[in-house]
Amino acid sequence: MRSIADIFSGSSPLPDQLPDDPFPTVVAWFEAAQARKDQPNPNAIALATAAVHGATAQPSVRMVLCKGIDAAGGSVYFYTNYNSRKAAELDANPYASIVFFWDHADQQIRIEGRVMRATAAESDAYFNSRRWESRVGAWASDQSKPIGSRSALLDRVMTTISDLGLSLPALMLKGQSVEIPRPPHWGGYRLWATAVECWVSGTGRIHDRAHWERTVSIEGDTVSTSDWSATRLQP
Ligand SMILES: Cc1cc2nc3c(=O)[nH]c(=O)nc-3n(C[C@H](O)[C@H](O)[C@H](O)COP(=O)(O)O)c2cc1C
Repeated sequence: MRSIADIFSGSSPLPDQLPDDPFPTVVAWFEAAQARKDQPNPNAIALATAAVHGATAQPSVRMVLCKGIDAAGGSVYFYTNYNSRKAAELDANPYASIVFFWDHADQQIRIEGRVMRATAAESDAYFNSRRWESRVGAWASDQSKPIGSRSALLDRVMTTISDLGLSLPALMLKGQSVEIPRPPHWGGYRLWATAVECWVSGTGRIHDRAHWERTVSIEGDTVSTSDWSATRLQP
């Protein structure tokens, strides 16, 4: 006779004794997803922000790419346009939630927390690693603002190339080695986790959920964090 644990097994349940700190698990799952050949966009995250209207908040969500996890501090990096809708919402309300979903591994990680902007050096380092098309695009696109047509957008790209003192033939010839400065309106955010949930699917919807919480306070550039407390949640 099969045991109850055997029948309701998960793909890889979390240990009975949950680790004190969730981030080694977050990093291990993230790295495993990136190592798989069958998981498209393993660093894609849904990012939820919330615009505040008086006493109510209106959430909005979109995909971005996770471009780094700081396991020691417990934070996650993503990059975007500081004039975008999401940035305006984060300026007004610096709390955000993200979710990773790795379909092929039957795993989900939810992270909630408080954002701060990445340093200029961090944003420069990532910006300079991007393809020239993306670096030009960061200058050309006034993200989240309306534009009359696709051809008007492409005209903006051409104008940007000439405003940067560049030309299409030179870009195509030199590609990645062309120096393009980072626009001041483009950079990173660092989400300092206040809550993490690691979820792994189980038979009969008897999934495994581990939830951690801590407090994070940010005063200017100084971040202080409490210890984590761990709880197992029902599915
Ligand atoms: C898989 C995927 C990854 C994306 N990554 C980013 C990203 O890293 N940064 C970004 O600004 N937009 C990214 N986008 C586009 C955003 O989803 C969104 O359209 C854009 O940031 C504007 O959002 P906002 O108007 O709410 O600010 C990505 C879209 C997809 C589908």
